[in-house]
Order: sequence, then C-alpha cells, then structure tokens
Amino acid sequence: MNKKKFIANIKSKRAKIGVIGLGYVGLPLIIRFSEEGYKTVGFDVDEQKVKDLNSGKSYIKHISAEKISNIIDVGFLATSNFANITDVDAILICVPTPLGEHNEPDLSFIKSTLNSIKPYLRQNHLLVLESTTNPGTTEEEIVPVIEENNFEIGKNFFVGYSPEREDPGNTEFTTKTIPKVVSGYTKNCLEITQALYNSIVDTTVPVTSTRVAEMTKILENIHRAVNIGLVNELKMVADKMDIDIFEVINVAATKPFGYTSYYPGPGLGGHCIPIDPFYLTWKAKEVGMNTRFIELAGEVNAGMPDYVIQKIGDTLNSVEKSIKNSKIFILGLSYKKNVDDLRESPSLVILEKLLNLGAIIQYSDPYFDSIPSTRKYNFKFSSQIIDKNSLNNADLVLLATDHDDFDYNFIEKEAKLIVDTRGRFKTSKNIIKA
Ligand SMILES: NC(=O)c1ccc[n+]([C@@H]2O[C@H](COP(=O)([O-])OP(=O)(O)OC[C@H]3O[C@@H](n4cnc5c(N)ncnc54)[C@H](O)[C@@H]3O)[C@@H](O)[C@H]2O)c1
Repeated sequence: MNKKKFIANIKSKRAKIGVIGLGYVGLPLIIRFSEEGYKTVGFDVDEQKVKDLNSGKSYIKHISAEKISNIIDVGFLATSNFANITDVDAILICVPTPLGEHNEPDLSFIKSTLNSIKPYLRQNHLLVLESTTNPGTTEEEIVPVIEENNFEIGKNFFVGYSPEREDPGNTEFTTKTIPKVVSGYTKNCLEITQALYNSIVDTTVPVTSTRVAEMTKILENIHRAVNIGLVNELKMVADKMDIDIFEVINVAATKPFGYTSYYPGPGLGGHCIPIDPFYLTWKAKEVGMNTRFIELAGEVNAGMPDYVIQKIGDTLNSVEKSIKNSKIFILGLSYKKNVDDLRESPSLVILEKLLNLGAIIQYSDPYFDSIPSTRKYNFKFSSQIIDKNSLNNADLVLLATDHDDFDYNFIEKEAKLIVDTRGRFKTSKNIIKA
C-alpha cells in the first residue's frame, strides 16, 4: 500500500485504528475515532479494564458508560491480545511515562509495548507515539525496533509522534477542539499522521521533526510547572507581608495582555506537570546542559506540603493544640478539583506527614470512597460525609482540593478552624491561607 492509498483509507474511514493504553489519554482518543465512524481496537495489559470496556462500563468518571456502549455499537473491541495488532492499520501508543526512583525517565512501558507488538508488525502500519517523553525517544527507541524488523520507514512503514493535550475536568475543550501537534519520521510519515488526525480533530499543527513535537509537549508542561513554582514562592512571600496572593493574582488577571494566571496550591500533582519537565532535565545532561528553572520550580513545588504542615501546626498552636492527637479533617484528595485522579496528589503527601506527626485523620472526597493503593501509599481510610457532626468534631479542617461539590458556606459555618490551600475562602480569624 502506498501513501496515497493509506490516506484514501483514512478519508473513507476504512482504516482500522488500534490504541494501546486505555487510560486518561487513550480512552478519550479511541472514543473520538469511533465517533468519526472508524472501527477501533483498544489494547491494554489491565484485564479488568478490558473486561469493563467490553461490558460497556467506564472506569473514568468524566467518561460515561453510555459513551462506551455507543462505541461498542460501532465495532469497538478491547483486548489484551496483541496478535490483533496485525488487523489494525494505525497503532497509537498512549502508555504511561513515569519517573524512576532517581527522577530519570522510565520508558519501560514504551519498551514493553514495543516488545509485545513486535511480532505482529506488518508492512504499511502507521505507528504513532502519543506518550509524553524526552526529545529523541521516537528516533532512539521506536525507529530501531522498526528497522530491526526490516521495514523501510517512510516507504512501507510509517512512524509519527503526536503528543496528547488532554486536560481532564476541563469542560471548555474536547479532544476534537484541542489543536494537535503532529510529526513524522519522514515526509511521508508526517503526511499520513496528519491525515489521520485531521479526520478527528478540528486543527492539526504539523512540525518539522518528531524531536520538535516531543520538545513542544515538554515545553508546555515546563511552562506550567515553572509558573506554578513562581506563584507558590510568591504566596509564601505575600503571606509574610499579610497580602492575599489570590487577590493579587485575580487583580493581575485584569491586564488584557502579557499576563497569564497560575494559582498556588499545596504542591504539584497529576501524571504530567510534576514529572514531564524532569524528562528534559535528564536528557539535557547528555548535551552538557543544566535545566535550572525546572529544578528550582521542582524544589519550590515539592516543598509546598511542608509549608502547609507548618501552617497547620501554627494554626493549632494558636489555640493551644498540637498536630499530635488533633483531629484533622482533610477535604479533597484528587490532585486537582473535580477529577477522580490521585496520581502524585499532594493531599496524599500531606496526609502521610500528618499521620507521622500523630494527627487523627479523616477525609472526604466525592471521587474516592476509599483510597486506592498506589506505588507509594496504602492508606486504609474511607471518605466521611461532610456534615455538622464531622465538621464540629474536627480540631481543624484542611481544604486540600477545592472540588465544586463541597458546600463552602456550610463548611465555613460549621468548622472550628480552616486551613485553606486553594484560596476558596476569605481570610478571617479562623480561616488561614496556606
Ligand atoms: N493524563 C493526562 O492528563 C495526560 C495529558 C497529556 C499527556 N499524557 C501522557 O499520556 C501518557 C499516558 O498517560 P495516561 O494519563 O493516559 O496514563 P494512564 O495510567 O491513565 O493510562 C495508561 C494505560 O496504559 C496501560 N498500559 C501500561 N502498560 C501497557 C502495555 N505495555 N501495553 C498496553 N497497555 C499498557 C495501563 O494499564 C493504563 O490503562 C503518558 O505519557 C502521559 O504523560 C497524560
């Protein structure tokens, strides 16, 4: 099959799409392809996810079961059998890219995906990596595997990189309306990759190399991490000066040019912002460079849970109590509001620190009835109802994540002391910003 035929198959929706890794990125992506009428196959090593999807269930809160049933109706199938790779025309890889123990990139999920699909690759496959990664990954990790299989990239096999720009919980943008950066290992690879994404998103942004696309995604996340680090530091400075940083930010936001608002919080969370910048830090060492902004922002952001603990200690101290043996009610565990995602959540860091200091902890989060075990934590708590009793009983209420579901007027009325890390309340005698 030549390039023209491949593109014709995309336009006529005859091309079959395979997505590997059906998480926060892969699932919305495969839904988008299905909505456009493509036959789709989703691959995941998590058997439970495969089972759930094939029976029409969703495991991501903002994706309804109805959406899953709809895509099944148009031919979607989930599987953990990689032999099905031969049947699809496009293979889109959306597996995790975490950090290792020493903040080094952990590309093991990409590597194990490549190992699983290698025996089933065939001529005229399009393989696109979507996972966030350091510049050079497509050329250094993917291309050699394809060439080992004796394919000629750009002639009888096509390779692209197209980073995801998912923002879970943001209802203003959808996978369709977010412009998508596309790149290819060769000119033909780029044309096919762009044609594919043009069929599911309103705007694609073609770039000159896979390395440019990889670096673009990292820049976007560094931009957030550094600016959040900046406002987190300014929050601590403003606090010493008795100035409310949230008011300052909202006032600055009235400037119609040259300013973008970022908000401080109890620390960075999620699978992207605390992690991705360090992919570049690691890679930069290869060319003898240091990424000082990334590391400084990382240091400030990683220190925020300790700042919150300090504020909790000071607040309890002001009523002649200590963290030890105080009842602390934590509101919100997700790393950001209105999402069911705990990855890298600073709430968990704070929870562990408070437990180590001897606090008696309760929490409430509408997205987590209990706390799922993670790589680092294994807490055995259940979510409590926020009522008069639970608020009155707490020595201190910590607003860690400002979900919209919380009744802030009620919390303010019933809590004895509130430490607010999100600027949701107005400062008063018993409401302390942290
Ligand atoms: N979550 C976001 O908001 C977001 C935004 C932009 C980019 N990204 C990037 O997208 C990538 C995926 O992130 P995510 O949030 O969707 O992760 P996720 O953990 O939600 O999903 C990843 C899925 O991949 C599966 N998986 C792991 N190894 C596999 C393998 N070898 N074969 C098949 N499936 C495998 C897991 O079971 C899981 O279902 C990461 O590189 C991330 O940095 C995430």
